[in-house]
Amino acid sequence: MAISKEFLWGGATSANQYEGGYQEDGRGLSSMDIVPAGSKRSDIIRGKISDFSIDPNLYYPTHKAVDFYHHYKEDLALFAEMGFKAYRLSISWTRIFPNGDEETPNQAGLDFYEAVFKECQRYGIQPIVTISHFDAPLHLVQTIGSWKSRQMIDYYLKLCKVLFTYYKDYVDYWLPFNEINMILHAPFMAAGLTFNGDEDEEQIKYQAAHHELVASALATKMAKEINPKNKIGCMFAAGSAYPFSCNPKDVWDAMKVDQENYFFVDVQSRGKYPNYALKEFQCKGIEVVMQEDDASILAEYPVDFISFSYYNSRCIASKDSDAELTDGNLFATAKNPYLETSEWGWPIDPLGLRITLNQVYDRYQKPMLIVENGLGAVDTVNEDGQIKDHYRINYLSEHIKAMVAAIEEDGVDLFGYTAWAACDIVSASSGEMKKRYGFVYVDADDQGQGSFKRLKKDSFYWYQKVIESNRDFI
Ligand code: BG6
Repeated sequence: MAISKEFLWGGATSANQYEGGYQEDGRGLSSMDIVPAGSKRSDIIRGKISDFSIDPNLYYPTHKAVDFYHHYKEDLALFAEMGFKAYRLSISWTRIFPNGDEETPNQAGLDFYEAVFKECQRYGIQPIVTISHFDAPLHLVQTIGSWKSRQMIDYYLKLCKVLFTYYKDYVDYWLPFNEINMILHAPFMAAGLTFNGDEDEEQIKYQAAHHELVASALATKMAKEINPKNKIGCMFAAGSAYPFSCNPKDVWDAMKVDQENYFFVDVQSRGKYPNYALKEFQCKGIEVVMQEDDASILAEYPVDFISFSYYNSRCIASKDSDAELTDGNLFATAKNPYLETSEWGWPIDPLGLRITLNQVYDRYQKPMLIVENGLGAVDTVNEDGQIKDHYRINYLSEHIKAMVAAIEEDGVDLFGYTAWAACDIVSASSGEMKKRYGFVYVDADDQGQGSFKRLKKDSFYWYQKVIESNRDFI
């Protein structure tokens, strides 16, 4: 199997990290709009929040982000210049339904995405749309507790219906939720969940996850009814869990970490709760309330493809080990002594991508799509305006080689790769601007100050050649 000419090379972003324009043209407040940068951020994204107001003394990165709202034409022209075949973006729910519970959508919000999709169409770029990427209407967080409540399914489906109908001529690929497994690690950021002291957090998270899983299945059903061409994919934060040693205790714990992540995909792809999860719920006293037809909904409407983000592998040591910990996409794991780390302490493991691709394909046997992979790093603009991000080129090049080997030598079925990120955006976990991921540099700092001018990095020209040669140039 070689890389097909139709392979979807591209880049990705999310509305809350990229768009800005948080109060423009009728947009309502969303969950991430009240998450400041700085020391409070980490607790808030994990659900420790009781005050939903905006503090004028703090900086909120989503409010302006990198202002895609006013730069979309310029940015899409740059993506087209790189040769993107696909662009993964997310919808800001509150641009369409400002509070989440209105009867009719906000026309200005619909117009904005239509304009974006028209630009994509003009350049022959296939949009891949994440319906909810770390995004819930703040009004629904405050009134019904967001995904804690089953009512959220109806509001979400109302959004889906508008999107599937209105953008029928523009979009064929949809991802109902970004990194659905992140609900366990960053529940406010991922799903708008908050906790007060005496609540059973695990119970709440799995109940909310059940609502998302049912919503995802019903969205799949609806998408196909509205347009049989629609293809729906689940999306999870991937990265295989390696045992820290061959001690069976480490191997066991690593397997449990993998199961915790695969749980979501097992339901979305295989259409039922896996036995290991049901048993674990029983042992822990977690009671997920389900309605009578939930099981048949999950069984009848599985996803068409599996998409995931991959930044790093994880390394798991059993509780009684004294292994050193390291960072990694919101999961702190044991430090893998064989791997270098990024400036933010995330392990760098290209072979881990090949391992993950093989494991995911073995498990589900469905087409796959890598929708996030990239390096967060500090970039410097030289006096002549050049940005020599060879570290990013190295990271991406090694990962793309591993991906190509998985396709050509291992036979995994992968139909696209959208790097994170198409353009510099605000970091989700830290809220920093200086943790840059893009091929396009944006002149803005951690306080939202700057000209917001766009500059091409060296990786821009490199990726352009990779796409043009359909990977030969790596
Ligand atoms: C993924 C998210 O978890 O990782 C993105 O889907 C995020 O939204 C990306 O930006 C990188 O993480 P961070 O925290 O460095 O921005």
